[in-house]
Amino acid sequence: MPVRTPLMTRLGIDLPIIQAPMAGGGDTPELVAAVAEAGGLGSAGATYLTPEALRAASSTVRSRTNRPFAVNLFAPQAVPPRPDDGAAAVAAVTEAGAAVDAPPAELPETMADPFERNFPIALDSGASVFSFTFGLLPDDAVQALKARGIFIMGTATSPADAVALERSGVDAVVAQGAEAGGHRGIFDGASGDPLIGTMALVPQVVDAVSVPVVASGGIMDGRGIAAALALGAQAVQMGTAFLTCAEAGPPECYKQALLDAGPDQTRITRAFSGRPARGIVNRFMDRIEGPDAAAGPLPFPWQNALTRPMRTAAARAGDAGLLSLWAGQGVGLSRRTTAADLMARLAAETEAAVRGIGI
Ligand SMILES: Cc1cc2nc3c(=O)[nH]c(=O)nc-3n(C[C@H](O)[C@H](O)[C@H](O)COP(=O)(O)O)c2cc1C
Repeated sequence: MPVRTPLMTRLGIDLPIIQAPMAGGGDTPELVAAVAEAGGLGSAGATYLTPEALRAASSTVRSRTNRPFAVNLFAPQAVPPRPDDGAAAVAAVTEAGAAVDAPPAELPETMADPFERNFPIALDSGASVFSFTFGLLPDDAVQALKARGIFIMGTATSPADAVALERSGVDAVVAQGAEAGGHRGIFDGASGDPLIGTMALVPQVVDAVSVPVVASGGIMDGRGIAAALALGAQAVQMGTAFLTCAEAGPPECYKQALLDAGPDQTRITRAFSGRPARGIVNRFMDRIEGPDAAAGPLPFPWQNALTRPMRTAAARAGDAGLLSLWAGQGVGLSRRTTAADLMARLAAETEAAVRGIGI
């Protein structure tokens, strides 16, 4: 690898590659450890884990590697009141879930934001990096991370959000372009989204902040990594590219959908969680958001809770039509391989791309 950025030195990694945290079963401790062993930074998306599962996942990572890894949470979110007009949404999810024998959809009585319960576990997880999305961290959380020497990375989808993150004390900013798979990192899930693409976003974030910038969204191979580095990023954070690795968590039908999809087949949807996220268009998205939709999605995190049993049943049944198939616009470049092989190929491709610019 011809590149060595200050951020790589700071993180203790050999390649400028961060495997994106992918909460909800995209990443696994095996994937995180394999990426770390291959010289990148593996990240565990821990938002939906119980504290016990987060403790177990980090200890599995630590048992497999001594190299650095990251734990990621969603920034604390105010949970909106339980919707009292949710009957149509509940009925729509129940009807869809019947195809995979899911239990009738039900809204929980209460919902708590998972940050408070999981943050203390993340602090003690042995991770040397803490990353987050959906906003800013409270000041006491930033101070607690700094007191332990944990490196902090926040997600920005605009230069203005990157500046706010820098002011809040983060050590690096992940600039997430509109191509990205999974949830949009916008600070307010109910407000508008500037949808700035990675190519336009990264250099403008690099100019707006003095901390290192990590490029994210639509990067699938060494050509994308070389381009991101040329734009001023000091590393990339890649999600979709890792989902088809043997160590990744998605069920086989999701992996196959990734391998079959083209770049015109993803869309940003609120159908599964109530917050905008990019995934491969499927039957459930069309049912909730199509012209014949009987009910739109409830706000996050209520819609997420409502659809979870259906998604679990769909994974068991191998029905990709009812799964949240998070994927970025680079999905057509997906490869079925192992994490170690993907990392080796990414390193070689980046080197070839840098040389191939030919100037
Ligand atoms: C399945 C999936 C789950 C994701 N979950 C998270 C998450 O829990 N936390 C987070 O900060 N980003 C999450 N992301 C977004 C990634 O951090 C990253 O921005 C995105 O994957 C980059 O786009 P790409 O998928 O085109 O590489 C997720 C992405 C995917 C594909």
